[in-house]
Amino acid sequence: MTDLLLGQVIRFDGDPFRDGPGAARPLSQGAVAIENGRIAAVGEAAALRARYPRARVHDHGQKLISAGFVDAHVHYPQTAIIASWGKRLIDWLNSYTFPEEMRFSDPAYAQEIANRYLDLVLARGTTTVSTYATIHPASVDAIFTAAQSRGMRLFAGKTCMDRNAPEGLRDTAGSAYDDSKRLLEKWHGVDRLSYVITPRFSPTSTPEQLHALGQLWREYPDCLMQTHLSEQTDEIAWVRSLFPQSRDYLDTYEAQGLLREGAVYGHAIHLTDRERARLVEAGASLVHCPTSNTFIGSGLFDMGLATRLRVGLATDTGGGSNFSMLRTMAAAYEVAQLRGQSLHPSQLWWLATQGSARALHAEDRIGNIAPGMEADLVVIDLASTPAIEQATRRAGDLWQELFPTIMMGDDRAVAEVWVNGRRLPT
Ligand code: GUN
Ligand code: ZN
Repeated sequence: MTDLLLGQVIRFDGDPFRDGPGAARPLSQGAVAIENGRIAAVGEAAALRARYPRARVHDHGQKLISAGFVDAHVHYPQTAIIASWGKRLIDWLNSYTFPEEMRFSDPAYAQEIANRYLDLVLARGTTTVSTYATIHPASVDAIFTAAQSRGMRLFAGKTCMDRNAPEGLRDTAGSAYDDSKRLLEKWHGVDRLSYVITPRFSPTSTPEQLHALGQLWREYPDCLMQTHLSEQTDEIAWVRSLFPQSRDYLDTYEAQGLLREGAVYGHAIHLTDRERARLVEAGASLVHCPTSNTFIGSGLFDMGLATRLRVGLATDTGGGSNFSMLRTMAAAYEVAQLRGQSLHPSQLWWLATQGSARALHAEDRIGNIAPGMEADLVVIDLASTPAIEQATRRAGDLWQELFPTIMMGDDRAVAEVWVNGRRLPT
């Protein structure tokens, strides 16, 4: 059976950071054909109607059909502590995050939050995330099980910490290696699931633990590795005192085999020239988490890097203050404004879809609408509230029509979500 979605379609031929807004090729009366979980065709509505006369037609009028959003850095275990008041990174971790992550020693609680989290993000049009679990292996099983039952493509890994975390939230170099390897062999490549080797960040891992995870990555080179880098200046000073022999923060990872293509670093705000040059040379990915960076008071990411390496966009739930990639695009726009870097709506939309997919090395499968790609789609109502609707009335093109939804849209803008070629119940 073919499903044929009609509406405005947004898709990309290139990268708007390198190629300009022309990298987007919108269709004002477009169509997307879905067969067997994949995109079979995209084109003009009239042509695709003629080509698929027996298709089940879903006419969305002037709504926008897009690839589902890809959130490249989240902590699903922090779902229940999102929007916790009044702290900066290190005391935020100690006051809110670690006590909550302790509760994941109970597999039933982990399963409850995993299900709650995925339902929250799917309702906001996010169809793939890359998430940190907690140190508990059952927290990885919980999120992969929840994603598998929803047919989602999802990246996750056990968070490894063997120091500077409370009793009950620490593993060891050896157990981090063993547990990560067991989970990787259990889940990596099963259905649409990918295991990600996940040291939390250098302050909570000894060099021995980073080394053990570097060894594991050498054994499974097609996995991604995710961690945090240079988010806050206090954190960087702490890393300097913990690793006196390292040249800089990035070197604490590089020295242990945790820097190469497939490394995905969250935040990466306060970088030295050497770090920037090495990240580019190594082909690493960076993930911009703008609502987190303003909420925790970390700093302003340099979007100029997007022309030099893979940059994705993320909520960083629950350091980030919102589950929605629309709100995250708005924050990315605002952060860029503060740096004098004006982002075009096509760049914002690309970051939340194809850019994030590229940061996760999954751009040939998700994050765009093209024949053969997996059918993860979101249908966006560009007039979802009276305030947004009145702001679109003078729009002369799709970008002007879309921008009020980027800035003011929320879950009410998400009309329909498709995962793996199946429409979610609304
Ligand atoms: N650095 C290390 N762990 C975390 C975390 O959970 N959230 C954020 N924002 N930064 C971190
Ligand atoms: Zn994070």
